[in-house]
Amino acid sequence: MPETISFARGAPSPDLIPVDAVRVATAKALEDDWQKALSYGVGIGHPGLCAWIADRHGIPTEQVMTTNGSLEAGAMLFRHLLSPGDRVIVEQPSYDRTLLLLEQLQVEFVPVALEADGIDVDAVERAVKHAPVKLAHIIPNFHNPAGCTLSAEKRERLVALAAEHDFTIFEDDPYRELPFGEDPPPTMLSIDQADKVIHASSFSKTVSPGVRVGYLAGPEHEIARLTKIANENYISPNMLSGSLVLELCQSGVLDDNIEKCKVALQERRDALVDALGKHIPEASFVLPGGGYFLWADLDEGRNTVELAEKAKEAGAPFIPGTEFTLDGGWNSLRFSFASVPPEHMDEGVARIASCLD
Ligand SMILES: Cc1ncc(COP(=O)(O)O)c(C=O)c1O
Repeated sequence: MPETISFARGAPSPDLIPVDAVRVATAKALEDDWQKALSYGVGIGHPGLCAWIADRHGIPTEQVMTTNGSLEAGAMLFRHLLSPGDRVIVEQPSYDRTLLLLEQLQVEFVPVALEADGIDVDAVERAVKHAPVKLAHIIPNFHNPAGCTLSAEKRERLVALAAEHDFTIFEDDPYRELPFGEDPPPTMLSIDQADKVIHASSFSKTVSPGVRVGYLAGPEHEIARLTKIANENYISPNMLSGSLVLELCQSGVLDDNIEKCKVALQERRDALVDALGKHIPEASFVLPGGGYFLWADLDEGRNTVELAEKAKEAGAPFIPGTEFTLDGGWNSLRFSFASVPPEHMDEGVARIASCLD
């Protein structure tokens, strides 16, 4: 067994990265598309990739821009839309890096709890009726860190609330393409008739995080504005990455890799669930229907910050719940099962269990 079995990083283990396919796609991109791949681009990034993404979403190309990963896309949107003191709805728990970005902008957090089928929409409604809200950050599918998926009914209600109360929904959706069973409900982008939804996604989870290709899809005027800001800040996103990802998309390799990842990730989720039942039976969780993460609640009174320190020493690091919450999370932890091959899962969970007394 390896010295370290890490549940900490939301990244795939190396065996899930399609290195040979990326090598071939890069060679092809440099042969057939080198003039675009090796030139300065414009703010939207690689136009061919924007067209492919637009087609996948069934929207006009003018509604898409690519970025260096979706975190950059979100950061740019936040800086463009938000001012200190603006009220922003965040899910609890939520992606730690998003919370950090928003904190830097000195917004007023409006925390709303997650339920098994996504954000508590009644609480969102109360919040937007209480005082104006500028933005709601929503991770709709196979949530990081909570593992849950937003129901179709809640998507409809959120989009209606955004139209009625004039706030933007940032649909942060890097895991949509990785369901283990049925496909998730339609994106909020596809339901929106009032230009209130900006959708972000990425090839980090379907190709590799290191290619740093993400994108924004939304109302044409917003994309035009953000494209200008992108161009003023960094000219264009990485064009070689855009070109090789386009090659993977067009050749069908992307879809093949998605199928492979789904099978491997489901196997890992199942191995984790088995290991939790065996070693940490007090853990309660929403079964993730896809993606990378499982959020476990332990018994009241547990301290997962201390547990994380001990588990790191025992060779099984994880991130405690407090990192993903504005308040609380002390008896919760996030397992990234994407980073652990199934044959190491039982040992990894047993190491954490051995630190619980
Ligand atoms: C919800 C969510 N949004 C955004 C990101 C950032 O992804 P990237 O910048 O690699 O596209 C992640 C990565 O883990 C994530 O989980």
